[in-house]
Formats: sequence, structure tokens, C-alpha cells
Amino acid sequence: MKTSFAATVLLAAFATPAAHAQSYPAKPITLVVPFAAGGPTDVVARTLGAAMGRTLNQTVVIENKTGAGGTLAAAHTARATPDGYTFLIHHNGMATAPALYRKLPYNPLTDFEYVSQVIDVPMTLLGRKDLPAKDFTELRAYLKAQGDKVNLAHAGLGAVSHLCGVLFRQAIGADVTTVPYQGTGPAMNALLAGQVDLLCDQTTSTTQHIKAGSVKLYGVTTAARLKTLPAAPTLAEQGLKGFEVVVWHGIYAPKGTPKEAIDKFGAALRAALKDPVVAQRLDELGAVVVPEAKQTPEGLRTWLAEETARYAPVIKAAGQFAD
Ligand code: MLT
Repeated sequence: MKTSFAATVLLAAFATPAAHAQSYPAKPITLVVPFAAGGPTDVVARTLGAAMGRTLNQTVVIENKTGAGGTLAAAHTARATPDGYTFLIHHNGMATAPALYRKLPYNPLTDFEYVSQVIDVPMTLLGRKDLPAKDFTELRAYLKAQGDKVNLAHAGLGAVSHLCGVLFRQAIGADVTTVPYQGTGPAMNALLAGQVDLLCDQTTSTTQHIKAGSVKLYGVTTAARLKTLPAAPTLAEQGLKGFEVVVWHGIYAPKGTPKEAIDKFGAALRAALKDPVVAQRLDELGAVVVPEAKQTPEGLRTWLAEETARYAPVIKAAGQFAD
């Protein structure tokens, strides 16, 4: 059939808006998690991802890309196509990795777009249920006596469970052996099975096991006691003066990701953090949603730069590197 010039122009006029009608996001979005399923980063990503998917009208697919203390996932995200369909959720490891790793294949301060800070999470120092030490005082004495026969599980160099474990080991001056896992999900399973002795991990994954009595709780890593575990003393009040580790989380995208995608993903995150069901769940798990001023690209970018500068001299002084 022959079409006149006028009809072609008319068809094109109708066709063009239709072609652009399917605006972002037009397909599922991947949220990369640097640690194994079942761990605290995974729990938070899945809780937020489900709520964000409802706002975005698309599925947020969680991809657990484990290894090298979270640096493999960050490298993967830095190299991903910047089309708005790949994001990364990561914690303090984004700020510690440049000082920990001699050959980091990405620069956290220049190779990403920044979406938002998310939540702050306290940590808990746990022991297997049948560890002979019944409280922190006994634990100290036990570790002094047993030395490197005691195992502390963690999620790799760059993981906060490792940072917390190493800081704790230094603070008490004991020679605990560290055992790496792909995330604290599997590390917690090893603790529950009695295969390792100690684990320092975030309340977002430990609260349920503490409340069920399936692990021993020796203390929390915050300056003040937690309202979710009010009976648990802080490590600082038990003699480790100034001991404080709080885990912060941020969401990143590959450099060059369109602003529309950053804005829409960020808006969906802010809506999820305000969702009453999500907010209650995070609250029960001890997580604290960051103030709205930090729920911005600039809020995360500034915080990451400050944290990177803060950690670098501390890690260099400790002389800890990985190749
Ligand atoms: C960490 O130790 O860095 C994380 O808690 C690991 C995880 O999310 O599994």
C-alpha cells in the first residue's frame, strides 16, 4: 500500500511519542550486594528493594556478587554499563578499601555516581552458644589463655566484621585467629553450628539470633546502649574505652549513569525509608535511618570523602594491606 507524504508525517508524529513513552525504568533494575545472601547487607537490600520496586513499578533484582571483602562487587559496578539498571549498596568498606588494598581496580571517589546514604547500624560481639566464657570479663580471660586457638569469623578484608574483629583483637591484646567467609550470612551459620567461636556482626542480622538465645552476646559496639537490646552493655562500658564501630550504608551507580535514573532510584529509596512497614522493620533490627539531608547524592559523596580520609592514616598505621 502506498502512503502519502502527509500520511507518513502524521504516522511519524504519532509513532515518535509512543517510542519514548516507555520511560525509565523500562525493565528490572539490579542492586548489587557485595556479600552473601542471608547477611546484613543482603537483608537490608532485600527489604528496601521490595519496597522500591513497588514505587518504580519494576522489580529490583538483588545480585550477590561476593569476594575480596566487597571489592569485587564495587569493581563490577564501576565497570557496568551506566544505563540506570545497575546500582550497588555498600558500607564502610567503600571508604576503607583504598587504604587496605594496594591494587584497587577502581577509585571510590571518582568512578561512581552517588545516590544516597541509607542507614546506620550498630554491631554486636557474639560467641557460639557453648563458649565457656559467660560474660565479657570471662571472655577476656579466656582469650588471653587460649590465644590463637580461638577463631573469629568475618566477611573478608574490607568487611566491617573484619574491621570490628581486628579492632577488638587489638583492644584486648589477644591473638585471635581470623577466618574469612563470603559474607556474615555463612559466618553466622558457622557460629550457630559451633564451627567458629566469635563473630562481630550488624544487628540487622544478629538481633533474631540474640533474642532466640542461640548465640552469646558479649557487648554492643556503640557509644550508648541500644533500645532494641537494652540489657546488653557496650564494649566501651566494659573496659574498651572509646571502642565504637557503627556501619553506614550508601547506594552507588556506575559513573555516567543518567541523572533521571539517579533521581528516580533515589526518590524510590526515600519513599521506602518512609514506608511504615519498612521503617518499623529497620527499627526492630536496630538500624537508624540517616537524616534526610544525608539521603542525597551530595550527602553520600561528602561523607565518603570524609570517611576515606579518616580511615587512611588509621589503617596505614596498623600496616594492614592486601594485594
Ligand atoms: C560485613 O561484615 O562487612 C558485612 O556484614 C558482611 C555481610 O553483609 O554479609
